[in-house]
Amino acid sequence: MKFKGRDIVSIKDFTREEIDYILKVSEEMEKHVKRGSDLLKGKIMATLFFEPSTRTRLSFEAAMKKLGGECIGFSSAEGSSVAKGENLNDTIRVVENYCDVIVLRHPLEGAAKFAAEVATVPVINAGSGAEEHPTQALLDLLTIKSEKGRIDGLKIALVGDLKYGRTVHSLAYALSLYDVDLYFVSPEPLKMRESVLHDLKERNITYHEYTKVKDVISDVDVLYVTRIQKERFSDPAEYEKVRGSYKITLETLKEAKEGLIILHPLPRVEEIDFAVDHTPYARYFKQTYYGLLLRMALLALVLGAVEE
Ligand code: NCD
Repeated sequence: MKFKGRDIVSIKDFTREEIDYILKVSEEMEKHVKRGSDLLKGKIMATLFFEPSTRTRLSFEAAMKKLGGECIGFSSAEGSSVAKGENLNDTIRVVENYCDVIVLRHPLEGAAKFAAEVATVPVINAGSGAEEHPTQALLDLLTIKSEKGRIDGLKIALVGDLKYGRTVHSLAYALSLYDVDLYFVSPEPLKMRESVLHDLKERNITYHEYTKVKDVISDVDVLYVTRIQKERFSDPAEYEKVRGSYKITLETLKEAKEGLIILHPLPRVEEIDFAVDHTPYARYFKQTYYGLLLRMALLALVLGAVEE
């Protein structure tokens, strides 16, 4: 296992052993959240965000600061020279002179891979179009492991926009390394991406596809709900057709299995009713705390601050 200097571009680049190790280091980060640390003192992280973000960017920044490091960056292309026509290659070649690690979110699939090839410092993919969001998948695993005590043996449903949602693509790959039952629940036009299904078949992973949450709710241990990715639809009329086609309410949860947990990468728009927030099932706000731990661990690992 080698993490120092490593790019985090796709969850597919990681073995189960490596992921388990990242989760273990994340758990050890809890003490630094409380007391602070100077593990990354003198290190600088640059966040280059070409798409909106609340949790991902702020948790990366908080993670860096909790470990004593510094942050620079921009949160929209308008605030950078990209607005003047600078290309990603040039932006990366400039920014790498100012930092020790780059965290990139970009609307184009393949952008993180490209940046990682150009950069001499490690690049962490914080979302590459509809393709992947590997650090979200890792924090989702950390949440499941911490809240359920294990990942193996669970029945896990990914619900919502499985076509355009990058979090569910990365999470499906990550879960394929564990002994889980996978349920993909989505309106017909938003079914899981064909390329992901193809890769799962190649890995001999079985999955079940459904269109209604009510058909799985009494079976599953984890309900991972996602937003319809409105901004990725080429035709607004197509979005209107699926809008509001699923919503988790107290009624939906009447049949829930005991010990069910509900996760969501957030932002929530209308797919989980606010009333659900007050049930013991809701873990989506706690999930954001695990995101802090996970990102602390990743930064410490790629910057070589923890033993491997
Ligand atoms: C997700 C994303 O950006 O892909 N947000 C996040 O990072 N937690 C999910 C989304 O935007 O729906």
